[in-house]
This record gives sequence, C-alpha cells and structure tokens, in this order.
Amino acid sequence: MTPVPEAAAQPGTLGVRAPAKINLFLAVGPLRPDGYHELLTLFEAVPLEDILTIKVRPAFDQSLSIRVRTRLRTAGRGRRRGEDLPKGIDNLAGRAARLYADAVSARGERALVARIEIHIEKHIPVAAGLGGGSSDAAAVLRAFQNHFGRVLDETSLLQTAAALGSDVPFFLSPGRAVGRSRGEDLTPVPAARGLPLVLGLPSFGLRTSEVYRRFDRIAVPPEAPLPPPAGGLDDLLAALTRGTPADIAVFLRNDLQPAALALRPEIDVVLRALREAGCLNALVSGSGPSVFGLAPRIEEAEGIADRAHRLLPPAMKSGVVFRPVMSAPAWSGGPEP
Ligand code: C5P
Repeated sequence: MTPVPEAAAQPGTLGVRAPAKINLFLAVGPLRPDGYHELLTLFEAVPLEDILTIKVRPAFDQSLSIRVRTRLRTAGRGRRRGEDLPKGIDNLAGRAARLYADAVSARGERALVARIEIHIEKHIPVAAGLGGGSSDAAAVLRAFQNHFGRVLDETSLLQTAAALGSDVPFFLSPGRAVGRSRGEDLTPVPAARGLPLVLGLPSFGLRTSEVYRRFDRIAVPPEAPLPPPAGGLDDLLAALTRGTPADIAVFLRNDLQPAALALRPEIDVVLRALREAGCLNALVSGSGPSVFGLAPRIEEAEGIADRAHRLLPPAMKSGVVFRPVMSAPAWSGGPEP
C-alpha cells in the first residue's frame, strides 16, 4: 500500500485525560469456551485521571514507530511499582496505537505513517480494578480519532477497543453504562448526578485473570445459568434514578469480591474501615484490590476518609490511601491538559 503523505503531514501534540472506573454492580456467570466469563455489570466513571500527552511527528523513513513512556504519580505508592509497568509497545496504550494504525490500513484507504510518542502520567493505580490501563488505551483511540479525522467508523472503533480488552469500549465514552457479554456490549445509562464516594487504594496489585481463576474455584457451580442472574440490577438502576445513597447502597454487588478477598484478605480490613467510618456500604471495584465506599453525602466523604485511615491497623496505614471523590456518570473530559 502506498503511504498517503497527508497521514504523516499532520504533526501535533494531543492532550487527553483517561478517567478510572468502578463497577457498582458486577454479576459473573461461568467460564465460557473462549476463556471469558459472561458478565452483567454497571460501570461508573470516577474522576481519578491519567494524563496522556501524545506527540505525532512526521516519519521521514515512511514508517510507523510508537514509543510509550510512563511516569507514576499514584498517591502513596513506592517507586518500585513502576518497574512492573509494561514498557514500549507491550503497554496497552502502545498496542492501542498499533491496532488503530492496523485498522486504518485494513480499510485500505491509507497507511498511517508517523513517529508517535505517548507519555502517560499515571494517577490511577496499576492492576487495581479501576481500569487504568484500559482507559489509557481508549484515550489513545479517542485522541487518534480526533487527530486523524475519525478514520474509523463506530463499529470498527468498538471492535478495535474490544480487541484490546473487555473494559476498553466503556472508556471510549466513559460515564455510566451497563455492560453485557464479556463487558464490551454496552448500554449507556444517562445520568447527571454523581455518587459521593470514598475510594480505598491499597498499594499492592491483583491480576484480573488470577481473580477470575479463583472465582471459578470458589463461586460457580457447573450448572450455573448463563447469563448470570440479574439479581438487583433493575433495583439498583431505579435507586440511582430516584433513590437516596441509602437506597442505592443495598443493591451494590460484586461477585468477584470473595475471590479478591481470598487472594488478599487485607482488602476486607479496608472495606470494614470504610463501613465503620460512616460509609453506607463498601465494595471491591472490579477484580480489586481497590474498593469504594458510598458516603451519605459528599460533605462527609473527607471526614470518612480520615477516620477510615485512622481505623486501619498500624501495619497497614502506609499501604492504603483513602480518597473522597464524586463519581462522574456524565464525564466529559474537561479541559485538555
Ligand atoms: O479482557 P481483559 O484482557 O481485560 O481480561 C483480562 C482477563 O480477565 C482475561 O484474560 C480473563 O481471564 C478475565 N476475564 C474474564 N471474563 C471477562 C473479562 C475478563 O474471565 N468477562
């Protein structure tokens, strides 16, 4: 294919924000033949954001090169965590750039020719159940769509996102959405009102695949129905529309929580601290280890965060950060960094 010069001739620096997510509801069915689990989940964006700066430069050798650099800015984290981050093209953001270029080429219109440098300032903890890596990947896709003139139609964009990971499609337009299948089949839930939350962020990470493996061992009898029983999603959605935080609190659900707690029992200490400090309920987010507590009002969230930290046993205090935050079901990206 002949590279079209225009694709290379639009240098620029793109700034894009990548929010985190929590799962207000996560019902998990049994393992499918493709190695994934059937899900019914409710995603919610939270304004804990990575900041990406993407430089697109002309490539004089008519090739595509992609480099990713990451700088850890996560609160209360030791520098050592950074060493676990995949570098270069192995990083999900780099793979997003590569897949976008492949998808553009596959359409046969033009090949992307550029020197691309992606710099990620990580504020979202890594391997935390907050979707940080997925959000970074989706942010690259969003930025490229803007920069390269929406080359991919909606279907190809969604397929590209889903190929990168089950949570990536949600982050193409993060807000509040029901996820089905392996999480990539989305129905947006319009909402203006956010929820008053206190995030509990442990300094260790958990591998998603390992949590699902543990889930298979402890949670699902072989004859479990597919898809999973909805058990409360409609009630939760109704409470989110009309109810108070106390109404919402009783319908929060995460089927992966027992598996995450079995792998790291100290997560339960964090959950208990949040409840004892004044949260109406507290739950693991996704595959953990991050947790979130639902506060009665945002004005109380800061006080709850302080109290929860004081309630931790001394040996855990340096390893957990509590952060008050209002969720962002109508996240718009805000001003560009
Ligand atoms: O899709 P993603 O790469 O983020 O998934 C990571 C791992 O989590 C998968 O390899 C799989 O083990 C597990 N997973 C699952 N069912 C899902 C989503 C993820 O078993 N619906």
